[in-house]
Amino acid sequence: MALRDAFRSKEDRVSEQGALSGVRVPEASAGDTQPVISVRGLDKIYGSGLRALSGIDLEIRRGEIFALLGPNGAGKTTLISIVCGIVNPSAGRILVGGHDIIREYRITRSMVGLVPQELHTDMFETVWDTVRFSRGLFGLAPDAAYLERVLRDLSLWDKRNEEIMTLSGGMKRRVLIAKALAHEPAVLFLDEPTAGVDVELRRDMWALVRRLRDTGVTVILTTHYIEEAEEMAERVGVIHKGKLILVEDKQALMAKLGKKQLTLHLQSPLPGIPATLAGWDLTLNNDGSELELTFGADEEQACIPALLRSMGELGIEFRDLNTRQSSLEEIFVNLVSERK
Ligand SMILES: Nc1ncnc2c1ncn2[C@@H]1O[C@H](COP(=O)(O)OP(=O)(O)O)[C@@H](O)[C@H]1O
Ligand SMILES: [Mg+2]
Repeated sequence: MALRDAFRSKEDRVSEQGALSGVRVPEASAGDTQPVISVRGLDKIYGSGLRALSGIDLEIRRGEIFALLGPNGAGKTTLISIVCGIVNPSAGRILVGGHDIIREYRITRSMVGLVPQELHTDMFETVWDTVRFSRGLFGLAPDAAYLERVLRDLSLWDKRNEEIMTLSGGMKRRVLIAKALAHEPAVLFLDEPTAGVDVELRRDMWALVRRLRDTGVTVILTTHYIEEAEEMAERVGVIHKGKLILVEDKQALMAKLGKKQLTLHLQSPLPGIPATLAGWDLTLNNDGSELELTFGADEEQACIPALLRSMGELGIEFRDLNTRQSSLEEIFVNLVSERK
């Protein structure tokens, strides 16, 4: 019910509010204080013997935007595929909306929509037939008005009678999103939604995700781009080598991740870090020719001029300098080593 509202025009919503003024529509049912997804002790060992997930415990709150962040091969797709019922867990218990994904798979599958990482679409079907069929698969009554809103919202309405194989990659991805939304799921999974998509689609997608969230849909996206997690998510889980190494509110995580380095290439090598600079997070390279300062990304303005001033007072001269942001890989490596 909530999801349809994401695709209603503003006027629709305003006039309905008018019509319903004074009537309290129960938004939430009794179970709404429960997490919408609960994962306990999840392990996945593929047939090849490869352990893709180990001891995953995770709760997703109803209506949040959650980003699962991790490098390629971390286990992101495996984890969401299990929750969506397309890969079997090796151990553990997973509930969606309080229902067990194994024993009550029909209910849990109807509650989730998945936009897969890989483009695989029924190539000869038209856009319209694809979304209509997808809705029908879940046994829902046809609702042309709802599907029209979904397609319009994704700028697909003009393409509704075209065969999917004739569409560009970006349009095909829009079709996959429309397909995932066709049965009005309570939880939408987006697996690497913006890997390799153009700027326009990325922006549209982010706007769509926010609208969905505003109507109570829970959105879980996987990404290996920190920027994407930063832009979209309210909470972030970091997964590395099949282990969920932390789950935090985004603000806290970004403060932790946003490290920068300033490297100073010195005129003449230093024998060691001067005692008066002991308060700084400095490292000197082996031959003493490069001094590196690490600081929080938000401390740039305070740190750089102050360090340069102190060095000037000490008569340490440099011939060049550069700054860089820690790469995602370094961030993950740091996070993992911190947890050992
Ligand atoms: N069907 C499969 N059979 C065997 N190994 C797989 C299969 N799918 C994924 N893997 C392996 O499981 C690990 C996690 O993969 P995946 O969940 O796709 O990671 P991510 O989505 O984070 O890139 C990788 O080492 C991958 O090679
Ligand atoms: Mg993946």
